[in-house]
Amino acid sequence: MKNRIYLSPPHMGNNEIKYIQEAFQTNWIAPLGPNVDCFENELCEYVGIDHGLALSSGTAAIHLALKYYDVGLGDTVFCSSLTFVGSCNPITYLGATPIFIDCESDSWNMSPEALQKAFDGALQQNRMPKAVIIVDLYGQAAQYDLLLPICKKYNTPVIEDAAEALGATYKGQQCGTFGDVGIFSFNGNKIITTSGGGMVVSNNKAAIDKMRFWATQAKEPEIHYEHKEIGYNYRMSNICAGIGRGQLENLNEKIRIKKAIFQRYQELLIDLPVKMLPIVEKSELNYWLTVLTIDGECNTSPITIIKALEQENIESRPVWKPMHLQPVFSDNKFVSSNPIISEELYANGLCLPSGSTLTEEDQKYICQIISSCFE
Ligand SMILES: Cc1ncc(COP(=O)(O)O)c(C=O)c1O
Repeated sequence: MKNRIYLSPPHMGNNEIKYIQEAFQTNWIAPLGPNVDCFENELCEYVGIDHGLALSSGTAAIHLALKYYDVGLGDTVFCSSLTFVGSCNPITYLGATPIFIDCESDSWNMSPEALQKAFDGALQQNRMPKAVIIVDLYGQAAQYDLLLPICKKYNTPVIEDAAEALGATYKGQQCGTFGDVGIFSFNGNKIITTSGGGMVVSNNKAAIDKMRFWATQAKEPEIHYEHKEIGYNYRMSNICAGIGRGQLENLNEKIRIKKAIFQRYQELLIDLPVKMLPIVEKSELNYWLTVLTIDGECNTSPITIIKALEQENIESRPVWKPMHLQPVFSDNKFVSSNPIISEELYANGLCLPSGSTLTEEDQKYICQIISSCFE
């Protein structure tokens, strides 16, 4: 059997090992250390923001951001429904309730109409959300020109979940810098990885300082161990940050390769009844994953294609199952677009192997298998 083709496997460059070796040689095998400081600075410089805090995961980053905005027991938080569960799980860690917002078909991100509808409902019930989590799905920015003024009108902080969108831009501005705070993930499947990790970024120094305090067990500045608040053990290790530094050096090259993969899929599948992820005007994706939808009227389905690819040892996936359809959130409120877009994308959407090591030959083979499902 051929080697497995994964959806988005890690791809190491030349310098990751150099930074890890430096950590070994200097005995900085610790959570914190020079690689952590450098990785924070280098990533902030790349996206154009003042402060960053490297953490053990993107989920931890969202958790701390929500805590900073004082989300607690009995509160509500608006969150994109079409996303990975890491976007909204931390809301529940704090005893609050996610209210899920549908997406729009232009970018597959949060619908401004549905967001407005959700605020109208919250006003009527006198139960305003403590924060809004807007996701930049599949490496594309949400339409911030439309979404941010709505949140501003109600004075509600925005946490930008750019876990999948490092390096993507909207009107020339980097993803992760639109919200009051932004978060990134460096999980193994992301465009750059630290094996596991995340970062929270902001121009608000006080916010990052407070989150740094909580991320290191809320240690008071005393010689002995003094604690007045509950904290977490959420920092990134100096080894993982070394991997991140090497990975970041190759981010632009990865985006270039992944864009070519997206375009090649587009060419190879041109005769089939499929539509690529739509790209909003003035949006530059990072092309983390090539995602498309299959015409709902045709004689095949994403699941049929996923199974056909799996038989050839090739990994593919449906589009994220919306959070409002997840059994664990069956009692949560969902504010829909008209018609409901996220459910349609889940029914018809397919994520294709998009690793930066994917060969042209593999891509042709994948497309042959996909084409055969339409015969
Ligand atoms: C949109 C989104 N949000 C949050 C996360 C959580 O990040 P992590 O896995 O680093 O905790 C992920 C991915 O893993 C994600 O895709």
